[in-house]
Amino acid sequence: MYLLQKSYSAQLSGEHRPLLKSGSIVQGNQLFTLYGKKENGSGVVLELNDAALNVVRSLNGQNSIDHLSTNVDSNALEIVSALEDRFPGIFDYPGDDVFEKRKKFAEAASRLSNRHAGEVELETSSSLTNYHQKGMSGEAFSQFENIETTVSHMFREPRQALRGKTFGAMLALRVKEEGLWDGTGSVLEIGGGTGYLAREFLAETSRSIESYSILDISPNLHQSQLAELSDFDQFELIKADALIFDFSSLSPSFILSNEVIADFSVGRVGLSAQFSEKELEREDRDAQQMVERYGLEVLERGQLLNLGAISLIERLAPLVQAGATAWISEYGGEFEPPRRVSLDGHAEHSIQFSHLLRVSEALGLKVELFKMSDFLDFDMEKMVLDVPSFEVLNFWIRSKLDRESLAKLSWTEAELREEMGEDLLSSIYNLNYSSMINTACHLTPELFYVLILRSQN
Ligand SMILES: C[S@@+](CC[C@H](N)C(=O)[O-])C[C@H]1O[C@@H](n2cnc3c(N)ncnc32)[C@H](O)[C@@H]1O
Repeated sequence: MYLLQKSYSAQLSGEHRPLLKSGSIVQGNQLFTLYGKKENGSGVVLELNDAALNVVRSLNGQNSIDHLSTNVDSNALEIVSALEDRFPGIFDYPGDDVFEKRKKFAEAASRLSNRHAGEVELETSSSLTNYHQKGMSGEAFSQFENIETTVSHMFREPRQALRGKTFGAMLALRVKEEGLWDGTGSVLEIGGGTGYLAREFLAETSRSIESYSILDISPNLHQSQLAELSDFDQFELIKADALIFDFSSLSPSFILSNEVIADFSVGRVGLSAQFSEKELEREDRDAQQMVERYGLEVLERGQLLNLGAISLIERLAPLVQAGATAWISEYGGEFEPPRRVSLDGHAEHSIQFSHLLRVSEALGLKVELFKMSDFLDFDMEKMVLDVPSFEVLNFWIRSKLDRESLAKLSWTEAELREEMGEDLLSSIYNLNYSSMINTACHLTPELFYVLILRSQN
């Protein structure tokens, strides 16, 4: 079926050099695009005839349309125009300002939402098949696959971008390598998620440690943690809120908490000139007190303060003074005030690490701050499948092939080839890979920091 119609009216000329954007792939003679996804939840499949296919495959941002008309198909201008008309924004025009400005994502999406021919509803829920295969609680897996994907979730299987290791295993290796922990005694993990991180960490350390406890507040996740860790005798689950629990009963040698503290409460600071004590929320009053207690720098009136994260450090300080090393990671910046990040169903706040450093020092602890990418030795030069390509590829896999979805992992081309097979992958055109340093895979470790706390002795 050849759906392209000649109804283009914009000023596209033979001199333009279109580039098929990420978010559009061509497989066989079918073009899949995902430009409408965010706004209307649909993807579009269009069948191209051979002439259109040849032209589309030559749109690399370097070939001018005139060049294609001479060398590929004399109707190149009509074909590109028709595609541009049907999917505004499907091409980039490198170096051409007019087109860059005109082809806005939003415009494309709103036009797309009025279309119907060839549209297919996107599945947005996670693949339950995947869950059954992995023996996970569907709810827990789905939460991390779809809603709050963590870096550790994306690296729960050995990945090339993490030197062939899993996140949990690499963490255990690196803390030992850096001399931060000797690999013995008891481990306490705060906020264990699916339990994958613990499983991988334990696989690396179970021969030398005495016990591994996860302290977590969520009953849904408790089930998943128990299921993942039932093979390890050393495992113990503590069902508690880390901001209330009495830690004095524990004496861990290593404490870890990965991507948890952004879940904790925030308060606003610097508002006392504007509002009376009574008018302020309790969190705002507590936050203001912390600013005063630790002499924290406030950059703007009303800025947020990571109240819960600071409180956790205060609560863990006695364990660290007693000899534990604490490894706490989260996304944020060194000096940037916390920003609200809305996720499906709840909000999180990025961490202002300068405040956590200041508080830890004031509590008499030895503190170090690392980029997560450096500490865990991610290979930031590796090229991994970008988000639009991942989404569109998955859409295509689900709607056109009798195969389960690709898991949300970082995928290098070699890993994808192994997963999908050489023949299949080589029949797909325009999958894009970008370096780990861009927000290329769903999350980049570049935006995360690791805070390490030790006693001064
Ligand atoms: C974003 S998940 C991170 C999970 C895991 N560490 C990972 O890397 O995937 C946050 C985890 O912290 C837990 N959590 C949130 N608030 C908590 C609290 N106040 N006390 C204990 N656990 C909490 C959640 O139940 C969840 O397991």
